[in-house]
Amino acid sequence: MIYEDLKGKNVLVTGSSSGIGAATAVLFSRQGCFVGVHYFRTKDGAEKTLEQVKQNSDGLLLRADVRDEKQVNEMVEQFAREAGGIDILVNNAGSLIDRQPFETATVDYHDDVYATNVRSILLVTRSALPYLKKSRGNIVNIGSVAGHHGGGNGSGIYAGAKAAVATETISMAKEFAPYGIRVNSVLPGFIETRFHERFSPQQRWKEVAEQTPLGRNGTAEDIAKVVLFLASEAAGFITGEYIAVNGGLYMRA
Ligand SMILES: NC(=O)c1ccc[n+]([C@@H]2O[C@H](COP(=O)([O-])OP(=O)(O)OC[C@H]3O[C@@H](n4cnc5c(N)ncnc54)[C@H](OP(=O)(O)O)[C@@H]3O)[C@@H](O)[C@H]2O)c1
Repeated sequence: MIYEDLKGKNVLVTGSSSGIGAATAVLFSRQGCFVGVHYFRTKDGAEKTLEQVKQNSDGLLLRADVRDEKQVNEMVEQFAREAGGIDILVNNAGSLIDRQPFETATVDYHDDVYATNVRSILLVTRSALPYLKKSRGNIVNIGSVAGHHGGGNGSGIYAGAKAAVATETISMAKEFAPYGIRVNSVLPGFIETRFHERFSPQQRWKEVAEQTPLGRNGTAEDIAKVVLFLASEAAGFITGEYIAVNGGLYMRA
């Protein structure tokens, strides 16, 4: 166990049927947390995550399209009811959906990217807020370094959405601080998950690893460890902050 204070906390991790969310859910279970394992399309992935969670602690399978207010409200209510409250919310569900440059991007694509990556955070956070107020809990939003550097080939609209996640993290941190709720974000770089299996050729994986000062691409666990730090008392005086996790690929003063 890394963080003793996380023991017994109720943690909802959106998008934990795969990749970063799955690794985060499992790492929280290793601290003795009760974990909400959420999915939308990938039920078998979520079942696999829950199986791993149950090897360490306990959890609950939850389904919702994070773009849909009614589904989100029902999902959050179900988790809060069965867990007995919410201490930590990880807004991780998100996707590039497709690679569409501005020149040819459809309005439907644009709106879907923002609904999946930005509206989702509004909906889940607002629904969980009454419970987080009670627990004086905290929120970790998963952004992206793309939100800082503008993204690569056909990912500019996604980069814009992730920039909104970064800014709204600060806005939420200000609004929720009077309730004792901290809000922070993690900005992954190139992380080897289904995300890049879908959207980047293997040659790109190799190129990025070679360009990265630490000499490799990231793993889902690299991100999960930082999410746990931000959610723990070790980060008890940190709010409205982000940590970029990218092996030194994008450094800023
Ligand atoms: N991998 C990277 O290099 C990288 C870099 C920067 C940021 N990120 C961000 O990190 C987060 C996790 O990505 P990942 O790499 O772990 O990708 P992933 O393996 O594809 O996982 C994405 C997760 O998001 C969920 N999701 C997507 N659309 C959803 C919707 N409409 N409703 C509910 N859930 C939805 C998926 O659920 P289902 O499959 O069950 O539908 C899945 O659990 C995302 O926010 C992504 O933008 C990733």
